[in-house]
Amino acid sequence: MRIGVPREGGSTERRVAATPDTVQRMRALGFEVGIEAGAGIRAGYPDSAYEQAGALLVEDARRGADILIAVEPPEPGALEGLREGALLISLLWPQQHPELVQQIAARGLSAIALDRIPRISRAQKMDVLSSMANIAGYRAVIEAAHRLPRFFGGQITAAGKTPPARVLIIGAGVAGLAAIGAARGLGAEVYAFDTRAAVKEQVESMGGRFLELVFEEEGEGSGGYARVMSEAFIAAEMALFLEQAPRTDIVITTALIPGKPAPLLWTREHVEAMPPGSVVVDMAAAQGGNCELTSPGEAIEHQGVTILGYADLTSRLSGHASQFFARNVTHLLEELGGAESFELDLDNEVIRGALVVCRGEVLPPPPPPEPSPAPPRAETPPAPPVLARPPRASGHTVGPLPGTAVAGIGAVAAIALVAIGQLAPPELIQHLTVFVLAVFIGWQVVWNVTAALHTPLMSVTNAISGIILVGGALQAGAGALEPGAILGLVAILFASINVFGGFLVTQRMLQMFRR
Ligand code: NAI
Repeated sequence: MRIGVPREGGSTERRVAATPDTVQRMRALGFEVGIEAGAGIRAGYPDSAYEQAGALLVEDARRGADILIAVEPPEPGALEGLREGALLISLLWPQQHPELVQQIAARGLSAIALDRIPRISRAQKMDVLSSMANIAGYRAVIEAAHRLPRFFGGQITAAGKTPPARVLIIGAGVAGLAAIGAARGLGAEVYAFDTRAAVKEQVESMGGRFLELVFEEEGEGSGGYARVMSEAFIAAEMALFLEQAPRTDIVITTALIPGKPAPLLWTREHVEAMPPGSVVVDMAAAQGGNCELTSPGEAIEHQGVTILGYADLTSRLSGHASQFFARNVTHLLEELGGAESFELDLDNEVIRGALVVCRGEVLPPPPPPEPSPAPPRAETPPAPPVLARPPRASGHTVGPLPGTAVAGIGAVAAIALVAIGQLAPPELIQHLTVFVLAVFIGWQVVWNVTAALHTPLMSVTNAISGIILVGGALQAGAGALEPGAILGLVAILFASINVFGGFLVTQRMLQMFRR
């Protein structure tokens, strides 16, 4: 079977649907790959790299292709070169392009809309919307940083002191979370708001602070997506934002509701309340915009505030965007059975979900997928943005020992102590009690230490180990093969492991920060 990869049309699209790496993978799946000359050049992949990976350089990727993989929906004329029965895989947005869907059907083709891959755990590796949203969220921060006439991170220098930039993210879905990570990575103070209260934890785990709105209304609709909120809720939300505007240097809006125009949340009044030099990045620009003043595709200025309505954020990171996109497509080709057992299996919920036209027949949208057993937020795949620091200590690194286990250990220890008490001398009981309490309290204390305190904790344990070494050395000197001496030697052994292990770990941690 032959896969064709065209050069993307349009002046702003720099991505490509296959990279040299995925050409190799597709060949391993049994496909032959024909790519148009120059298709990857704007994503940093030269023709020679594709040839080395085993692709054929062709004039027209449509000719002779059984499957055409592309990023953008095809221009109507572009369907002409495809043979009947061929499969098109690309972003299609069938709801926005009903006439294109009809043309595909009329040509007797099949079409998979990548934007229709169901958002279920199993399909995450094929989820182009998530992988692109992650990239766009990161890039939105970079674009904002480029326009902002200030530092992101606070500075303390001989020339003066500056506070960190204050960033507000509206909508903490995949893109919003990636933006939080990137902005935190650059040192900004990040606040976020979403109608789905459940994302609070995710915002905090990325190092952001979640703005709360005291309002009784659930924002979560089906499949983990948002739903349209009441007018009163939106009014309360906008009042909250107006309060934030004078203190905010950057606003990144990502609020979307699938199949609906983007909600208007940042009005002229909000823009005018922002400090001069501030930046608004409206990531919902292509869906009508969250900001009243956005001009889609453009950067404009209003009373000293820059408003970016770029719709090509992923294309501005075309190398990695193409890499992720192409990987998603390759996973889909695997799901389709590869070249050997290729099948448009309508019983496969991922394929059925994304298949818009099947051999000339327009398929009705499938019923919404069953919600995944785990809460959707746990499945969100915001890949850590490149600049992200390790998440701030925001809780336990290791969960505390469950209460039942603690009670169990306590009960066993108490019974053991009573039993030993019947037989052993009183001093042994006293030592054992101290020992059991030390283990129990130590366990509870150490397990609940936040990540930020691990280094001081390590120094404390090293100091304690030092004392044990001294005690062990004194005991070991008591005389050869005395029980006390043997215990002393054991204590020296374990304490040394702790001390030298501590040095080693510290050394490795320091190396991580050395360039
Ligand atoms: P999206 O791009 O449709 O929306 C972005 C965000 O805007 C959402 O978090 C939404 O709650 C928020 N929003 C809508 N109206 C708002 C308003 N008035 N004010 C503030 N925020 C508003 O959503 P995205 O990022 O594509 O995904 C949303 C959720 O879907 C994820 O957080 C996750 O729970 C789920 N998901 C599940 C996947 C899977 O299971 N494979 C994959 C991707 C997402």
